[in-house]
Amino acid sequence: MTLGDGKAEELLACLERARTAAAEAVAAAEHLATLEAVRVRFLGRSGEITQVLRSLGQVETDRRPEVGRLANEARAEVERLIAERASRLEEVELDRRLEGEWVDITLPGTVPPPGAYHPLTLTLAEIERIFVSMGFEVAEGPEVETDWYNFQALNIPRDHPARDMQASFYLTGDILLRTQTSPVQVRYMRANTPRLPVKIIAPGRVYRRDDDATHSPVFHQVEGLLVDRGVTMGDLKGVLDLFAREVFGPRTRTRFRPSYFPFTEPSAEVDVSCTICGGSGCRTCKGTGWLEILGAGMVHPQVLRNGGYDPEEVSGFAFGLGIERVAMLRYGIGDIRLLYAGDVRFLRQFAPAGEGGVTE
Ligand code: DAH
Repeated sequence: MTLGDGKAEELLACLERARTAAAEAVAAAEHLATLEAVRVRFLGRSGEITQVLRSLGQVETDRRPEVGRLANEARAEVERLIAERASRLEEVELDRRLEGEWVDITLPGTVPPPGAYHPLTLTLAEIERIFVSMGFEVAEGPEVETDWYNFQALNIPRDHPARDMQASFYLTGDILLRTQTSPVQVRYMRANTPRLPVKIIAPGRVYRRDDDATHSPVFHQVEGLLVDRGVTMGDLKGVLDLFAREVFGPRTRTRFRPSYFPFTEPSAEVDVSCTICGGSGCRTCKGTGWLEILGAGMVHPQVLRNGGYDPEEVSGFAFGLGIERVAMLRYGIGDIRLLYAGDVRFLRQFAPAGEGGVTE
Protein backbone atom coordinates (compact mmCIF):
# COMPACT_ATOMS: atom_id res chain seq x y z
CA MET A 1 0.00 0.00 0.00
CA THR A 2 1.34 3.41 -0.97
CA LEU A 3 1.34 6.44 1.24
CA GLY A 4 -1.47 7.85 -0.93
CA ASP A 5 -3.64 4.77 -0.36
CA GLY A 6 -3.03 5.21 3.34
CA LYS A 7 -4.36 8.76 3.18
CA ALA A 8 -7.40 7.70 1.15
CA GLU A 9 -8.29 4.94 3.58
CA GLU A 10 -7.71 7.22 6.52
CA LEU A 11 -10.01 9.90 5.09
CA LEU A 12 -12.73 7.41 4.19
CA ALA A 13 -12.66 6.10 7.73
CA CYS A 14 -12.88 9.65 9.07
CA LEU A 15 -15.79 10.34 6.74
CA GLU A 16 -17.68 7.28 7.86
CA ARG A 17 -17.21 8.16 11.55
CA ALA A 18 -18.27 11.75 10.91
CA ARG A 19 -21.36 10.66 9.00
CA THR A 20 -22.54 8.32 11.73
CA ALA A 21 -21.78 10.83 14.45
CA ALA A 22 -23.60 13.58 12.53
CA ALA A 23 -26.73 11.47 12.00
CA GLU A 24 -26.85 10.67 15.72
CA ALA A 25 -26.27 14.27 16.76
CA VAL A 26 -28.96 15.54 14.39
CA ALA A 27 -31.49 13.05 15.69
CA ALA A 28 -30.63 13.96 19.28
CA ALA A 29 -30.99 17.73 18.78
CA GLU A 30 -34.05 19.04 20.60
CA HIS A 31 -33.67 22.71 19.79
CA LEU A 32 -32.78 24.75 16.74
CA ALA A 33 -29.77 26.17 18.58
CA THR A 34 -28.38 22.69 19.25
CA LEU A 35 -28.96 21.79 15.63
CA GLU A 36 -26.97 24.83 14.55
CA ALA A 37 -24.09 23.70 16.77
CA VAL A 38 -24.22 20.29 15.05
CA ARG A 39 -24.06 21.96 11.65
CA VAL A 40 -21.01 23.96 12.70
CA ARG A 41 -19.33 20.85 14.12
CA PHE A 42 -19.62 18.88 10.87
CA LEU A 43 -20.13 21.38 8.06
CA GLY A 44 -18.66 24.58 9.49
CA ARG A 45 -15.43 26.13 8.24
CA SER A 46 -13.33 23.69 10.21
CA GLY A 47 -16.08 21.05 10.56
CA GLU A 48 -15.25 17.35 10.40
CA ILE A 49 -16.65 16.74 6.91
CA THR A 50 -15.25 20.03 5.63
CA GLN A 51 -11.81 18.91 6.83
CA VAL A 52 -12.02 15.76 4.74
CA LEU A 53 -12.89 17.78 1.65
CA ARG A 54 -10.00 20.12 2.39
CA SER A 55 -7.54 17.25 2.64
CA LEU A 56 -8.35 15.82 -0.80
CA GLY A 57 -5.15 17.30 -2.16
CA GLN A 58 -3.16 14.87 -0.04
CA VAL A 59 -4.91 11.79 -1.49
CA GLU A 60 -3.15 9.96 -4.26
CA THR A 61 -4.39 11.15 -7.65
CA ASP A 62 -6.11 7.94 -8.78
CA ARG A 63 -8.23 7.68 -5.67
CA ARG A 64 -9.04 11.37 -5.42
CA PRO A 65 -12.28 11.29 -7.52
CA GLU A 66 -13.74 8.47 -5.45
CA VAL A 67 -12.91 10.00 -2.08
CA GLY A 68 -14.14 13.39 -3.33
CA ARG A 69 -17.45 11.98 -4.47
CA LEU A 70 -18.04 10.15 -1.20
CA ALA A 71 -17.17 13.24 0.80
CA ASN A 72 -19.58 15.38 -1.25
CA GLU A 73 -22.31 12.79 -0.81
CA ALA A 74 -21.72 12.73 2.92
CA ARG A 75 -21.95 16.51 3.06
CA ALA A 76 -25.18 16.55 1.07
CA GLU A 77 -26.69 13.86 3.24
CA VAL A 78 -25.87 15.65 6.47
CA GLU A 79 -27.26 18.90 5.05
CA ARG A 80 -30.48 17.13 4.19
CA LEU A 81 -30.74 15.54 7.66
CA ILE A 82 -30.24 18.93 9.27
CA ALA A 83 -32.85 20.61 7.07
CA GLU A 84 -35.42 17.92 7.81
CA ARG A 85 -34.75 18.08 11.52
CA ALA A 86 -34.97 21.88 11.45
CA SER A 87 -38.42 21.91 9.90
CA ARG A 88 -39.56 19.29 12.36
CA LEU A 89 -38.27 21.30 15.30
CA GLU A 90 -39.95 24.46 13.93
CA GLU A 91 -43.27 22.63 13.77
CA VAL A 92 -42.87 21.44 17.34
CA GLU A 93 -42.02 24.95 18.44
CA LEU A 94 -45.09 26.36 16.68
CA ASP A 95 -47.36 23.71 18.21
CA ARG A 96 -45.99 24.52 21.63
CA ARG A 97 -46.68 28.22 21.18
CA LEU A 98 -50.15 27.66 19.77
CA GLU A 99 -51.05 25.55 22.77
CA GLY A 100 -49.62 27.96 25.31
CA GLU A 101 -50.77 31.24 23.83
CA TRP A 102 -54.34 32.30 23.60
CA VAL A 103 -55.48 35.40 21.84
CA ASP A 104 -58.84 36.93 22.60
CA ILE A 105 -59.69 38.58 19.33
CA THR A 106 -62.80 40.17 20.89
CA LEU A 107 -60.71 42.45 23.13
CA PRO A 108 -60.61 46.12 22.08
CA GLY A 109 -57.34 47.22 20.44
CA THR A 110 -54.82 49.62 21.93
CA VAL A 111 -55.91 53.07 20.88
CA PRO A 112 -52.94 55.35 20.14
CA PRO A 113 -53.32 58.72 21.89
CA PRO A 114 -54.55 61.33 19.41
CA GLY A 115 -51.96 63.88 18.31
CA ALA A 116 -52.62 67.60 18.13
CA TYR A 117 -51.80 70.08 15.43
CA HIS A 118 -49.17 72.60 16.45
CA PRO A 119 -50.69 76.04 17.13
CA LEU A 120 -48.55 77.50 14.34
CA THR A 121 -49.90 74.91 11.89
CA LEU A 122 -53.47 75.70 12.97
CA THR A 123 -52.87 79.43 12.67
CA LEU A 124 -51.31 79.16 9.22
CA ALA A 125 -54.14 76.90 8.04
CA GLU A 126 -56.64 79.52 9.20
CA ILE A 127 -54.72 82.35 7.51
CA GLU A 128 -54.52 80.37 4.27
CA ARG A 129 -58.22 79.53 4.42
CA ILE A 130 -59.12 83.22 4.72
CA PHE A 131 -56.91 84.43 1.86
CA VAL A 132 -57.71 81.52 -0.43
CA SER A 133 -61.40 82.35 0.10
CA MET A 134 -60.58 85.84 -1.26
CA GLY A 135 -58.94 84.35 -4.35
CA PHE A 136 -55.27 84.43 -3.30
CA GLU A 137 -52.97 81.65 -4.41
CA VAL A 138 -50.39 80.13 -2.01
CA ALA A 139 -46.82 80.55 -3.30
CA GLU A 140 -43.45 79.56 -1.89
CA GLY A 141 -39.84 80.65 -2.09
CA PRO A 142 -36.49 79.30 -0.90
CA GLU A 143 -35.26 79.74 2.69
CA VAL A 144 -31.68 80.08 1.45
CA GLU A 145 -31.82 83.29 -0.51
CA THR A 146 -29.53 85.60 -2.41
CA ASP A 147 -28.70 89.08 -1.13
CA TRP A 148 -30.30 90.45 -4.27
CA TYR A 149 -33.75 88.93 -3.72
CA ASN A 150 -33.72 89.34 0.05
CA PHE A 151 -32.57 92.97 0.02
CA GLN A 152 -31.50 94.67 -3.20
CA ALA A 153 -34.58 93.85 -5.27
CA LEU A 154 -36.60 95.31 -2.39
CA ASN A 155 -34.76 98.66 -2.52
CA ILE A 156 -32.37 97.75 0.29
CA PRO A 157 -28.86 98.27 -1.15
CA ARG A 158 -25.81 97.01 0.70
CA ASP A 159 -25.27 100.14 2.78
CA HIS A 160 -28.94 100.76 3.61
CA PRO A 161 -29.74 101.26 7.31
CA ALA A 162 -32.88 99.12 6.96
CA ARG A 163 -30.53 96.11 6.99
CA ASP A 164 -29.70 96.81 10.65
CA MET A 165 -33.21 95.82 11.75
CA GLN A 166 -32.74 92.40 10.22
CA ALA A 167 -29.48 91.09 11.69
CA SER A 168 -28.92 88.21 9.33
CA PHE A 169 -27.36 84.78 8.99
CA TYR A 170 -25.03 84.83 5.98
CA LEU A 171 -23.77 81.61 4.39
CA THR A 172 -21.45 83.48 2.04
CA GLY A 173 -21.08 87.20 1.27
CA ASP A 174 -23.99 86.94 -1.14
CA ILE A 175 -26.16 84.15 0.19
CA LEU A 176 -28.12 84.21 3.43
CA LEU A 177 -31.04 82.65 5.26
CA ARG A 178 -33.91 84.88 4.22
CA THR A 179 -34.84 87.45 6.86
CA GLN A 180 -38.34 87.98 5.46
CA THR A 181 -40.80 86.42 3.02
CA SER A 182 -40.80 89.62 0.92
CA PRO A 183 -38.27 88.22 -1.63
CA VAL A 184 -41.04 85.88 -2.80
CA GLN A 185 -42.83 88.99 -4.14
CA VAL A 186 -40.09 89.60 -6.71
CA ARG A 187 -39.45 85.90 -7.39
CA TYR A 188 -43.11 85.29 -8.12
CA MET A 189 -43.51 88.36 -10.32
CA ARG A 190 -40.43 87.51 -12.40
CA ALA A 191 -41.67 83.94 -12.87
CA ASN A 192 -45.16 85.05 -13.92
CA THR A 193 -44.83 88.34 -15.78
CA PRO A 194 -46.84 89.62 -17.62
CA ARG A 195 -49.73 87.65 -16.09
CA LEU A 196 -52.34 89.66 -14.15
CA PRO A 197 -53.51 89.72 -11.51
CA VAL A 198 -50.66 88.61 -9.29
CA LYS A 199 -52.55 87.59 -6.18
CA ILE A 200 -50.57 85.51 -3.74
CA ILE A 201 -49.76 84.83 -0.16
CA ALA A 202 -46.36 83.30 0.58
CA PRO A 203 -46.00 81.67 3.98
CA GLY A 204 -42.74 80.30 5.31
CA ARG A 205 -39.81 80.28 7.67
CA VAL A 206 -37.54 83.29 8.11
CA TYR A 207 -34.34 83.78 10.10
CA ARG A 208 -32.88 86.63 12.16
CA ARG A 209 -30.26 86.98 14.86
CA ASP A 210 -32.84 87.78 17.57
CA ASP A 211 -33.69 85.80 20.68
CA ASP A 212 -35.97 86.81 23.58
CA ALA A 213 -39.53 86.31 24.91
CA THR A 214 -41.09 87.77 21.77
CA HIS A 215 -38.36 87.10 19.17
CA SER A 216 -37.05 83.80 17.93
CA PRO A 217 -34.10 83.35 15.53
CA VAL A 218 -36.40 81.20 13.40
CA PHE A 219 -39.96 82.36 12.91
CA HIS A 220 -42.70 82.38 10.31
CA GLN A 221 -44.22 85.06 8.14
CA VAL A 222 -46.95 85.27 5.59
CA GLU A 223 -46.33 87.66 2.75
CA GLY A 224 -49.20 89.02 0.70
CA LEU A 225 -49.02 90.58 -2.77
CA LEU A 226 -51.69 91.81 -5.12
CA VAL A 227 -50.70 93.45 -8.40
CA ASP A 228 -53.21 94.44 -11.05
CA ARG A 229 -54.43 97.45 -12.98
CA GLY A 230 -55.85 100.10 -10.62
CA VAL A 231 -55.14 98.50 -7.25
CA THR A 232 -55.49 101.11 -4.46
CA MET A 233 -54.81 101.48 -0.78
CA GLY A 234 -58.59 101.08 -0.34
CA ASP A 235 -58.25 97.50 -1.62
CA LEU A 236 -55.47 96.88 0.89
CA LYS A 237 -57.62 98.21 3.74
CA GLY A 238 -60.62 96.16 2.66
CA VAL A 239 -58.64 92.93 2.46
CA LEU A 240 -56.87 93.45 5.79
CA ASP A 241 -60.10 94.50 7.57
CA LEU A 242 -61.80 91.33 6.47
CA PHE A 243 -58.76 89.29 7.43
CA ALA A 244 -58.64 90.82 10.94
CA ARG A 245 -62.33 90.14 11.56
CA GLU A 246 -62.01 86.56 10.38
CA VAL A 247 -58.98 85.80 12.56
CA PHE A 248 -59.73 87.79 15.69
CA GLY A 249 -63.53 88.02 15.64
CA PRO A 250 -66.24 90.18 14.00
CA ARG A 251 -65.83 93.12 16.40
CA THR A 252 -62.16 93.62 15.49
CA ARG A 253 -61.23 97.03 14.07
CA THR A 254 -58.03 97.94 12.23
CA ARG A 255 -55.88 101.06 12.34
CA PHE A 256 -53.31 102.09 9.74
CA ARG A 257 -50.36 104.14 11.00
CA PRO A 258 -47.92 105.78 8.57
CA SER A 259 -44.62 103.93 8.53
CA TYR A 260 -41.62 103.24 6.34
CA PHE A 261 -40.51 100.20 4.40
CA PRO A 262 -38.08 100.56 1.50
CA PHE A 263 -40.21 98.35 -0.76
CA THR A 264 -43.57 100.09 -0.27
CA GLU A 265 -44.69 103.69 -0.81
CA PRO A 266 -46.72 104.72 1.06
CA SER A 267 -46.12 102.28 3.92
CA ALA A 268 -48.20 101.50 6.97
CA GLU A 269 -48.11 99.54 10.16
CA VAL A 270 -51.43 97.95 10.85
CA ASP A 271 -52.89 97.49 14.32
CA VAL A 272 -55.96 95.55 15.40
CA SER A 273 -58.14 96.50 18.35
CA CYS A 274 -56.85 94.59 21.38
CA THR A 275 -58.03 91.00 21.32
CA ILE A 276 -58.03 90.86 25.13
CA CYS A 277 -59.81 94.06 26.24
CA GLY A 278 -61.53 94.96 22.98
CA GLY A 279 -59.90 98.38 22.91
CA SER A 280 -60.41 99.82 26.39
CA GLY A 281 -56.79 99.27 27.40
CA CYS A 282 -55.14 96.40 29.30
CA ARG A 283 -51.75 94.88 30.02
CA THR A 284 -51.49 93.04 26.70
CA CYS A 285 -51.98 96.24 24.68
CA LYS A 286 -50.04 98.28 27.26
CA GLY A 287 -53.08 100.45 27.84
CA THR A 288 -53.32 101.60 24.22
CA GLY A 289 -56.24 99.45 23.09
CA TRP A 290 -54.29 98.46 19.93
CA LEU A 291 -51.95 95.64 18.93
CA GLU A 292 -49.57 95.89 16.00
CA ILE A 293 -49.85 92.85 13.75
CA LEU A 294 -48.34 93.60 10.37
CA GLY A 295 -46.53 95.86 7.95
CA ALA A 296 -48.04 96.80 4.60
CA GLY A 297 -48.12 99.35 1.83
CA MET A 298 -48.37 100.04 -1.87
CA VAL A 299 -45.67 98.22 -3.81
CA HIS A 300 -42.80 100.59 -4.68
CA PRO A 301 -42.54 101.28 -8.45
CA GLN A 302 -38.95 100.01 -8.49
CA VAL A 303 -40.03 96.69 -6.93
CA LEU A 304 -42.66 96.30 -9.65
CA ARG A 305 -39.95 97.00 -12.22
CA ASN A 306 -37.62 94.47 -10.59
CA GLY A 307 -40.46 91.97 -10.90
CA GLY A 308 -40.87 92.69 -14.60
CA TYR A 309 -44.03 94.82 -14.37
CA ASP A 310 -44.52 98.41 -15.56
CA PRO A 311 -45.50 100.75 -12.69
CA GLU A 312 -47.15 103.06 -15.26
CA GLU A 313 -49.60 100.29 -16.06
CA VAL A 314 -50.13 98.39 -12.85
CA SER A 315 -50.10 99.01 -9.12
CA GLY A 316 -50.18 96.73 -6.15
CA PHE A 317 -50.26 96.31 -2.43
CA ALA A 318 -48.19 94.08 -0.19
CA PHE A 319 -48.19 93.08 3.43
CA GLY A 320 -46.19 90.87 5.77
CA LEU A 321 -47.31 89.42 9.04
CA GLY A 322 -45.73 87.18 11.67
CA ILE A 323 -47.54 83.89 12.20
CA GLU A 324 -46.17 83.56 15.75
CA ARG A 325 -47.62 86.95 16.66
CA VAL A 326 -51.06 85.96 15.37
CA ALA A 327 -50.90 82.56 17.12
CA MET A 328 -49.84 84.15 20.42
CA LEU A 329 -52.74 86.62 20.28
CA ARG A 330 -55.28 84.00 19.22
CA TYR A 331 -54.35 81.52 21.92
CA GLY A 332 -53.11 83.90 24.63
CA ILE A 333 -49.56 82.51 24.56
CA GLY A 334 -47.20 84.76 26.54
CA ASP A 335 -43.77 83.47 25.52
CA ILE A 336 -42.77 82.70 21.92
CA ARG A 337 -40.31 80.04 23.11
CA LEU A 338 -43.21 77.79 24.20
CA LEU A 339 -43.96 77.34 20.50
CA TYR A 340 -40.60 75.65 19.90
CA ALA A 341 -39.96 73.80 23.16
CA GLY A 342 -41.79 70.66 22.02
CA ASP A 343 -43.38 70.20 25.46
CA VAL A 344 -46.41 67.93 24.97
CA ARG A 345 -48.13 69.39 28.05
CA PHE A 346 -48.26 72.67 26.14
CA LEU A 347 -49.00 71.21 22.71
CA ARG A 348 -51.76 68.90 23.93
CA GLN A 349 -53.97 71.91 24.65
CA PHE A 350 -54.58 72.57 20.98
CA ALA A 351 -57.07 70.89 18.70
CA PRO A 352 -56.45 67.19 18.10
CA ALA A 353 -55.66 66.14 14.56
CA GLY A 354 -58.80 66.14 12.49
CA GLU A 355 -60.65 68.63 14.70
CA GLY A 356 -58.70 71.75 13.93
CA GLY A 357 -60.11 72.52 10.53
CA VAL A 358 -56.85 71.37 8.98
CA THR A 359 -57.43 69.05 6.07
CA GLU A 360 -54.33 67.31 4.76
N1 DAH B 1 -40.85 92.25 5.29
C1 DAH B 1 -41.23 93.10 6.39
C2 DAH B 1 -40.50 92.62 7.65
O1 DAH B 1 -40.16 91.50 7.73
C3 DAH B 1 -42.70 93.05 6.60
C4 DAH B 1 -43.44 93.74 5.51
C5 DAH B 1 -43.74 95.08 5.59
C6 DAH B 1 -43.82 93.05 4.37
C7 DAH B 1 -44.42 95.75 4.61
C8 DAH B 1 -44.48 93.73 3.35
C9 DAH B 1 -44.79 95.07 3.49
O2 DAH B 1 -44.86 93.10 2.25
O3 DAH B 1 -45.48 95.67 2.51
O4 DAH B 1 -40.34 93.40 8.55
